[in-house]
Amino acid sequence: MEITYYGHSCFGVVVNGKHLLFDPFITPNELAKDIDLAKIKADYILISHGHEDHIADAVSIAKRTGAKVICAFEIHSWLNNQGVTNTHPMNIGGKWKFDFGNVKCVSASHSSSLPDGTYGGNAMGFIIESSEGNFYFAGDTALTYDMKLIGDYRKIDFAFLPVGDNFTMGPDNAIIAAEFIKCRKIIGMHYDTFDLIKIDKTRAIQKFEHAGNELILFDVGETKTV
Ligand code: NI
Ligand code: MN
Repeated sequence: MEITYYGHSCFGVVVNGKHLLFDPFITPNELAKDIDLAKIKADYILISHGHEDHIADAVSIAKRTGAKVICAFEIHSWLNNQGVTNTHPMNIGGKWKFDFGNVKCVSASHSSSLPDGTYGGNAMGFIIESSEGNFYFAGDTALTYDMKLIGDYRKIDFAFLPVGDNFTMGPDNAIIAAEFIKCRKIIGMHYDTFDLIKIDKTRAIQKFEHAGNELILFDVGETKTV
């Protein structure tokens, strides 16, 4: 699948010709200053939780593209109040069939409030199941034993895991998460954007290698086929 990194936890993934955009946070991100927001394609926007660093550009991109926003029920209600009405509310444990494939919502161990303080429901991760393969987008989360359920549920071809530590798991726990989900190909996210989540990237990649896993770190703006 073709994957483009827009910084922090924001990725575009093309699945069966549809553009999925995860956790848009671009305009406030100094590291993503060269990204042209107007050029980002989206048929679907998936939002893991309501924190500013995952939703900042969701309203503007949803309004420009008309993309359907997939998110927790509480975030769907908040978006409706902002004039974004093409939304699909979900919650943890639920699965829905879209035209690109299925989305299954799984738990994330994290908090979720919206930028104006509105309650955002539960933070979630997403499993995308498609005829082109399956992947897991963890959102912001700690390492949890629940991740073993994901490994038992589906063959996960690659996974987006947070590795920045402090607000989420860091590289050491992400290596254990990779074991739990039985996936060796990990794309790192949620690192370096702020001082509190700066990591030693070379060391993180080495640690993954040592554990027999691959940690893929994109440059902001980079597109790769994974
Ligand atoms: Ni968060
Ligand atoms: Mn975050």
